[in-house]
This record gives sequence, structure tokens and C-alpha cells, in this order.
Amino acid sequence: MSPDALEIREDFPILRRRIGDDQLVYLDNAATTQTPTQVYDVFEEFYTEYNANVHRGIHALSHEASVAYEQAHDRVADFLGAEGRAEIVFTKNTTESINLVANGLRNELSAGDEIVLTEMEHHASLVTWQQIAKQTGASVRYVPVTETGHLDMDRAAELVTEDTAIVSVAHVSNVLGTVNPVERLADLAHDNDAYILVDGAQSAPNRPIDVRELDADFFAFSGHKLAGPTGIGGLYGKRHVLEALEPFLFGGEMIRHVTLTNASWNELPWKFEAGTPPIAEGIALAAAIDYLEDIGMDAVRDHENELAQYALEQFADREFVQTYGPDVGEERTGLVSFNVDGVHGHDLSSLLNDEGIAIRAGDHCTQPLHDVLDVPGSARASFYIYNTKAEIDKLLAVVDEARERLPGYLQSDRYHDAIYDHYRNPRHGGGVADPTFTKSSEETTCGDEGEFHLSIDADGTIESLGFESQSCAVSQAVASILSEQLEGEAIEAVAELDGYVTDTLDDRFPAIRRDCVVGPEKVIREGAREYVDAAH
Ligand SMILES: Cc1ncc(COP(=O)(O)O)c(C=O)c1O
Repeated sequence: MSPDALEIREDFPILRRRIGDDQLVYLDNAATTQTPTQVYDVFEEFYTEYNANVHRGIHALSHEASVAYEQAHDRVADFLGAEGRAEIVFTKNTTESINLVANGLRNELSAGDEIVLTEMEHHASLVTWQQIAKQTGASVRYVPVTETGHLDMDRAAELVTEDTAIVSVAHVSNVLGTVNPVERLADLAHDNDAYILVDGAQSAPNRPIDVRELDADFFAFSGHKLAGPTGIGGLYGKRHVLEALEPFLFGGEMIRHVTLTNASWNELPWKFEAGTPPIAEGIALAAAIDYLEDIGMDAVRDHENELAQYALEQFADREFVQTYGPDVGEERTGLVSFNVDGVHGHDLSSLLNDEGIAIRAGDHCTQPLHDVLDVPGSARASFYIYNTKAEIDKLLAVVDEARERLPGYLQSDRYHDAIYDHYRNPRHGGGVADPTFTKSSEETTCGDEGEFHLSIDADGTIESLGFESQSCAVSQAVASILSEQLEGEAIEAVAELDGYVTDTLDDRFPAIRRDCVVGPEKVIREGAREYVDAAH
């Protein structure tokens, strides 16, 4: 292991935190990275020395704040290989950057135009373009993901045509860790006079980026994934493209001249930064970039790749673990998504949390990709500059024992006895023959799949109630409790349930499992409401 990781850890006091009796092991970096003192010191300096609004005051504080905020744009431009600050818009995050582009292009899109995405897009891109397509009449096409976790580039070449208006693609998949060939996609887009937007949420944090080499028209990223604060992200756009793009948000700062009937726009990039911007956050983002570049982006990339390879090699020896994405040996970013036979990701996360280890489990905002992988969700361990192989070993130790540990964990006094009882002996599992209606959890809970089946008799009483579920042990136990207890109840009463499960369990479950506990009640209540509404 690079000795640097141990040195780097010194800059992150949060990594000294203990969770219960255990040292924190933070492996949820693809969601948000930790922030070094060098970055959050910026906030103290800003708020104690020069807090003021930018671009508005002829006084020292406003001048200092404006200069620092503008220079932060220069810093980001340099980091991404852009020509200068005119090409860098500060936004809240990657999601807002993509929305800015999608809304800016809205007037250019109409029926017949095509938006080319990939099956591995994050909802930030997928949902945004889906909505813009609905509003404009354009259609969305998807480049498929192959079994090895790559984009099918032959299909991409067929899908990008003269009807394509924009290709929007993740540089790196937040589930598979695949580094996509965005230069080739940029060529395909440009050969067809289309734009390309590169979602850099998972690439800007861990590798050198040169937007000109990528030939990206747009490049979106988030500060909180690259050792910066939340609330700040960015959008690079080629200058002539941004000049032609309609602004997304209107108001102060983004205008040049306003009359009662019209307005003209400010110069780039301020045309896209309406209202008071996140000033301290923007300056802190520049500090995060300074911090990372001191380490060196090549070194960050190599460190992440080394950790990912190590984790993959270790998982490969375990036949009860399924991993997703490119195999050992191929470069990927520092994340590995996986499933452990017989242990749902939420249960695994809780077992890990008991040892101070933080990972993420669910669909990672990529439900369509999980449909392609044919799993409802996955666990994901993701690494950053301060992580070590020793931390991965700690993760593996829990993974190895997860199946054996789960029953004892659910039997512990942190859970109401009914959870273990129903986990061990689920009642009413399986479908109900000829149900009056079924209600699936897909619409209401993220990454957990389950379905209630209800037979209702003529006077509105629940005659039989069953469930089918692929969700975590806790949600399944709760579904079983509900199925047993609500049989014989009036469907109208079920439509009004509010806190029934938490009361039944005397609130005896770990707070981190609240969503798993209340999820099934939400599902059955919604199903009952829909039924009652339809009956009236
Ligand atoms: C590939 C990808 N795109 C977009 C996003 C959205 O980022 P944010 O929530 O910071 O807008 C994420 C976040 O996980 C991501 O991984």
C-alpha cells in the first residue's frame, strides 16, 4: 500500500471518528468523499475575514470575495483543461449541471430529434433527459451495456445518427467502475453534428481530465465527490456552445440590462449563475482542487485502481460473492459493487456498520442498470485517497461471516423479538390466489422489491393477504408482520395506517433501519388508498 494514504489520513480528522467501539472505515466515497482541513479551513477564513456578496459592492470585503470567487473559476478551468473562466459555470452539483444543459437545449429539440444515453447512466442524467424528451417530443435511445460491464460500441455507432442532437454519457459508471471511451463517443457525436455531454461525477475526482482532449462540449461534476464541500459543482462548456445556450435560471447576476419588457444576459460564465452564488463553497472547491493536485491526479487514479484491483481479486476467491463490472486486470475506478449470496445489501450494510464500516447498498440511482444486471440492488464499496488495503480486509472479514452473523444480529436486543420471529418463520409468504389487487414496492422504496397481494371481500374486509419480496431481512419480516396482523381488517383502515409498524415494534430497531421498517407499511397503505379511491 502506498505509504501516502496513511499520511493523507492525517488531513482528515473525521477518519479518526469512532462508530461505537470501532474506528470508522469510510468506504462510501462514490457517494461523497471526506473533506480535508485545508478545504474546510476556507470556510472559517471566509466567514471571519471577508464574507460579503460578490459583484455588487464597492467595498473591501465584496472586492475580496469577488476576486476569490472568480479565481476559483480559473482554478477549475485549469484543473479541467478549459480555456478559461468563461467556460466554467458553478452549479450546485452534477445534477444541476446536466439540468442546465438539458433545459438550455430545450428550444432546439423537437420530434424527430434523438438523445443518446447509455444503460449505465445515473438517474441525474437519465431522468433529466427523459423529461426533456417528453417535453419536446424528442426520443431517447440507449447504448446497451455488455455482460462484461462495457458499452456496446458497435451499437453506439449505429445509434448515433444524423438525428442525434446530443449524446450524454457517464465518463465512469458509479456502479461498474468502467471507464467509458468518451473520446470515441465524442467523435461519433461530432461526426453527426451532435453535442456530447460527459457526466464526470465519478471521473473528475480520480483522474486527470482534459476536456479538450476528450473533445467534450459539456463536462459536469460535483465538488463533494472530490474532497470539496457539498452545494458546489460545475459545468464546463465550450465557449461558443455556452454562448449559444439559453440560460436555465433567471434573476439577478445573470443579466446585463433589464427593462420592464425585456432583459439581456451577462457575459460568460455569469449568464448561467443567477442569484447569489455559493461563494464560500466555490472558493473551497478551488482549495480541494489544490489539495488533490498536490497529491497528483495520476497518483490518485493509480491508488484507486490498486485498491479496486485488490478488492476484486479478494472477491474473486469467494464463490458466494458476485461482483459487477470489468474483471480483475482492467483499469477501473476505486469502487466495487457486489452481492453476497443470501444477504441483502441493507442487511450487509448494517452488519458492517456494527464494525464501523460505511458502504452503500441499494440501486445507487441506476435502476435501469440494475434491471440489466438482473438484480434489485447491490452493495458498493468505494475508495478514495485515504483508504488502505487494511480497510478492505476489514470489510472482507465481515463479508465472510455475514451469512452466519445475520440471524444473531437480528436476534439481538436492538430489535423487537417479532423481527427475528418473522424473519425465521415468515407468515403469508408467497402470493394469494386470485388477489383483488397487488401493490408493488418499486414505486415507493428505493432498491427494495416486494409486492403485497390482497383479496378483499364484498364488505371491504381483507380476506387474505400475502407478500413476495426480494428485500432485506428486516423489510421481509415487517411485510410478514403486516400480512399476519392486517388480515381481517377493513381496507379503509389500512388506507389510514400511520406509524402502525413502529408502534407494533415499540420503536425497537436501529435508527439506520427506519426506511427498511417503515417501507412495507407505506406500500400497503398506498395500495389500500388507491383501492379505496377507485372504489368510491
Ligand atoms: C455518475 C454520476 N452522475 C451523477 C451523479 C449525481 O451527482 P450529484 O448528486 O452530486 O448531483 C452521481 C452521484 O452519485 C454519479 O455517480
